[in-house]
Amino acid sequence: MKRLGIMAALPQELGDLIAQMQAAGEVRTVALGRREYYVGEAHGVPSVVTLARIGKVAAAATASALIHVFEADAIVFTGVAGGLRADVQVGDIVVADALMQHDLDASPLFPRYEVPLLDRARFDADRALSDALAAAADAFIAEEGATVAERFAVAAPRMRRGLVASGDRFIASHEALFALRDALPDALAVEMEGAAIAQVCYEHDVPCAVVRTISDTADAAAPASFAEFLTAIAATYSSGILSRFLRAAG
Ligand code: ADE
Repeated sequence: MKRLGIMAALPQELGDLIAQMQAAGEVRTVALGRREYYVGEAHGVPSVVTLARIGKVAAAATASALIHVFEADAIVFTGVAGGLRADVQVGDIVVADALMQHDLDASPLFPRYEVPLLDRARFDADRALSDALAAAADAFIAEEGATVAERFAVAAPRMRRGLVASGDRFIASHEALFALRDALPDALAVEMEGAAIAQVCYEHDVPCAVVRTISDTADAAAPASFAEFLTAIAATYSSGILSRFLRAAG
């Protein structure tokens, strides 16, 4: 890997990564398209780190810049997501095996969910990167899971791997949650960026992986749970997972 692209949507989802890079060595800051890109070393790995903001367009534009302007040859996304199943609870970690856009519908011209003219709805995450992220998540849980659970009053965290559904919609009602569950029974989590990045990476043959901590269960309590999780805990998870992932890669 020559240079890893590391993305999150919001600052809390990146944890202390940029501060850690700046404390450890020289970091070049480049402003482009209303974003800042931090180019340097993250835990010994040559990296470019940025915040995409929320949604599929923001994520796709940022992934494209990472690849074409900053020459990232792999991309990792970290952030929070809504849990879609009873066995995916607040505080759990989901590493995507595959990603799809739950709000994409060009039917009857193309099958529901299929990305027109790409012949596919689902995009695989890179296996090696995802294995490494899953190992980092497992290590974080083994070493810090009990402390995190006690400090933030969440159940003992678990790591899950599977399908992640993305769309330009914050899911926050039983109706929307059950509709999504019915439509995509194998989806573990819902968020607003991952499948857009996976599509851009697929089109450019760049490996990518997505790790998400569950901030809410995509129901009526989701807005409050999301806000609280983001403020209080998201950074602890992202820093804990990313630092282990990067140290193992470096
Ligand atoms: N990200 C975190 N929680 C989410 C939700 N409930 N819907 C969409 N994206 C999310």
